[in-house]
Amino acid sequence: MPSHFGLIGYPLGHSFSKQYFENKFKISNSLDTYKLFEVASANMLIEVVSKNNLKGINVTIPHKQKVIPFLDSLDKSAQLVGAVNVIKNEGGLLTGFNSDYPAFKATIKSWLDNSNVKALVLGTGGASKAVIAALNDLKISSQQVSRTGSSNVITYKELAENPNWVKQHVLIINTTPVGTAPHTNEAPEIPYNLLSASHYLYDLVYNPKETLFLKKGKAQGAKGKNGLEMLHLQAELAWDIWNT
Ligand SMILES: NC(=O)c1ccc[n+]([C@@H]2O[C@H](COP(=O)([O-])OP(=O)(O)OC[C@H]3O[C@@H](n4cnc5c(N)ncnc54)[C@H](OP(=O)(O)O)[C@@H]3O)[C@@H](O)[C@H]2O)c1
Repeated sequence: MPSHFGLIGYPLGHSFSKQYFENKFKISNSLDTYKLFEVASANMLIEVVSKNNLKGINVTIPHKQKVIPFLDSLDKSAQLVGAVNVIKNEGGLLTGFNSDYPAFKATIKSWLDNSNVKALVLGTGGASKAVIAALNDLKISSQQVSRTGSSNVITYKELAENPNWVKQHVLIINTTPVGTAPHTNEAPEIPYNLLSASHYLYDLVYNPKETLFLKKGKAQGAKGKNGLEMLHLQAELAWDIWNT
């Protein structure tokens, strides 16, 4: 019997997940299916799952937090992050997981050759929460940067005004969508002139492979990593969740 999977979000354009899982089914001669469900409201979740007999669901913007009230339980990963990007359906009981968090954690751990660093996390959305949970596990202290500051979040203006932020925080992670195709000539507004060969720039954006953020870092001698490895790993971890 084939199993059915899908992605809920709004709006949904090209989907990496659909392509990734359909390719997986093809390689293994499986009749499993993966469909896109473009739903404006997260309260459609239960209906979509039951009507389509879905065993596993990926969740994307804007529903990663909004689906939580409709779930029966949350795995530790989702509790820690406060957002869900994977749902498992076991006999009608829905459990929420977060696979971005372990995917980011594993990929940064293997990439950083010096974990004795401090980090700047650009952006305050769902992805930033997964990143901060991983950094906390790795005992890397972090400072969030936002277009609008708050008591413990600084603004890009403050970052530009005090060179010590960039000098002392050599790991800089872009968790904003800035620089994503087709807006490839945009980059987060940080003082790139202060970057050096001791900086590490991790961009969660994966399209294009080399964003302007990474290019500008490279020009200053900084090391760079894009979001592709994390993207593949979070999908593989979702697959493991659905099948164990
Ligand atoms: N590689 C992977 O596996 C992976 C996994 C998850 C997400 N991602 C990528 O990570 C990015 C963020 O995802 P998300 O779910 O966190 O998205 P999101 O909630 O829509 O946005 C993240 C944050 O980015 C900031 N932001 C948005 N537009 C901006 C702009 N024009 N200029 C400056 N800052 C802006 C906002 O923070 P402030 O309002 O505080 O400035 C926002 O909260 C997306 O590009 C997504 O594709 C990649």
